[in-house]
Amino acid sequence: MQKCEQLYEGKAKKVFLTDDPDILIVSYKDDATAFNGLKKGTIVGKGAINNRMTNLLFQKIEAEGVPTHFIQELNDRETAVRRVEIVPLEVIVRNVAAGSFSKRLGVEEGTVLAEPTIEFSYKNDELGDPLINSHFAKALQLATASEIKTIKDYAFKINEILKVEYLKAGLRLIDFKIEFGRFHGKIILADEISPDTCRLWDVESGEKMDKDRFRRDLGGVEDAYIQVAKRLGLEMESK
Ligand code: TMP
Repeated sequence: MQKCEQLYEGKAKKVFLTDDPDILIVSYKDDATAFNGLKKGTIVGKGAINNRMTNLLFQKIEAEGVPTHFIQELNDRETAVRRVEIVPLEVIVRNVAAGSFSKRLGVEEGTVLAEPTIEFSYKNDELGDPLINSHFAKALQLATASEIKTIKDYAFKINEILKVEYLKAGLRLIDFKIEFGRFHGKIILADEISPDTCRLWDVESGEKMDKDRFRRDLGGVEDAYIQVAKRLGLEMESK
């Protein structure tokens, strides 16, 4: 497989074509943004951590029967993935109230929800990824009824898999965002699962071990990412 020209550059990743029309190479950057790109910064080492962590978790998810875009890790920052058509939905699963859920609904951060819940945002930077429901998604033809059912089933299943994996690493999975794509007509998990896209709180201390340290200027951002990676069993240089 040959790496060809860049197809796209996003906020956290670059995507390259290959000589195989079904395969792309994603390259993870250290760039970090928050609040729809208003806040910008760098989290040194983040690209390699997010790449390796995503690949580890995607392989566990795949082993449990949820198809993913993962093909092969090429190096610290780069991975070969199946080329999908992204479903323009940010799928958020929550176990504990935090972030925009707490703000919108006036529920104190840290309140355990009676059951895991799901929400969709329309993936559109110009509009600031507005919250929508599955009826909007169907009406706007973002996804079909059958795709939405599959996405919901997969999302809750992924939540159960991730909760177990993170708990083994001493982390509580508060909430996370995932994205799906269509590959030859089938829904598969795409994008990434990392401290950029999950809220992870230390089981013992309750300390935030994710991108909220960057969003909220809490300091110790790089260390938190390294800790998460190490606890999941990824070998990290230094520290
Ligand atoms: P929220 O509480 O700000 O809506 O975030 C919910 C989860 O989604 C949290 O784990 C962070 C993640 N997330 C992203 O991955 N990308 C985003 O653009 C936003 C707003 C949240």
